[in-house]
Amino acid sequence: MVDLQAALAECAEDVERMMDLLLPQPEGAEARLYSAMRHSAFAGGKRLRPFLVMQSARQFGVDRRCAARVAAAVEFMHTYSLIHDDLPAMDDADMRRGRTSCHKEFDEATAILAGDALQALAFETLVMPETHSDPAVRAELVRDLARASGGRGMCGGQMMDLLAESTEMDIGAITRLQRLKTGEMFAFSAVSGAILGKGPYRAYMALHNYAQEFGLAFQIVDDLLDATGDSEWIGKPTGRDAEAGKATFVSVLGAERARSQAGLLIDQAITALDLFDEKADLLREAARYVVARTK
Ligand code: IPE
Ligand code: IPE
Ligand code: MG
Ligand code: MG
Ligand code: MG
Repeated sequence: MVDLQAALAECAEDVERMMDLLLPQPEGAEARLYSAMRHSAFAGGKRLRPFLVMQSARQFGVDRRCAARVAAAVEFMHTYSLIHDDLPAMDDADMRRGRTSCHKEFDEATAILAGDALQALAFETLVMPETHSDPAVRAELVRDLARASGGRGMCGGQMMDLLAESTEMDIGAITRLQRLKTGEMFAFSAVSGAILGKGPYRAYMALHNYAQEFGLAFQIVDDLLDATGDSEWIGKPTGRDAEAGKATFVSVLGAERARSQAGLLIDQAITALDLFDEKADLLREAARYVVARTK
């Protein structure tokens, strides 16, 4: 039996150590910007995307330090997306990861810049020779993270998500929205180990399929927690999707069907891993955790 919570904690510790190395607090005029970046990056997120990176890398025997750099890059990118998501122009949220959100703690301009700089740092991290000795591998990582986070990935999904406040959306449209908004970043995380380790295409695709289902289930539960969770416990405001009249899995399917849909997706995610041996058990457990989680 694998101990997922212990493995998550160990991974968070390793990746945070790497993030700290890559994001030191400087002196001087730019110190405020770095304080804002660090305020959001070191606020104790679940570090799920880094976990997928590390576990994916493990399947292919990738050096842990190289994998931790990719994991840190993904978490920098994710943190940027959260800072911008909380801005008044988007979700206007005052709390994030149990702390005051970046623009509330600092100001809007600083929060925008902190997000921008975290995004730049993500790409800089991937492209450094320490991340992989083969420049072609580094280029592939950069290209795929750009795709996952850009107009046909997270940003595109965020655009659709804002439109979902004023547009009717059926389940197909919401599924596409969530695949872009959340799924692509999970997919990048899960395949990054195969890229680093030059794994076979079949394994790459299996991880990709796993993460797509995982990401959708993850977002359904995020929407359920927004609808029913406790803000103090979760560390961010709740009830905001309904307040904004936003089309989500929960608004279209209702809470009960949304939850059972998440369960089905997780079964499919686990099935996608059939070609991996017991080394992938933590990935299987992580999928189960994603639907059972309360924050
Ligand atoms: C929140 O992601 C944003 C979504 C994509 C729904 P997480 O729930 O992974 O946030 P942290 O990283 O644990 O704070
Ligand atoms: C944001 O989705 C997902 C991102 C790409 C940042 P949400 O708006 O649902 O995330 P939370 O609920 O604020 O974490
Ligand atoms: Mg949002
Ligand atoms: Mg939000
Ligand atoms: Mg949400």
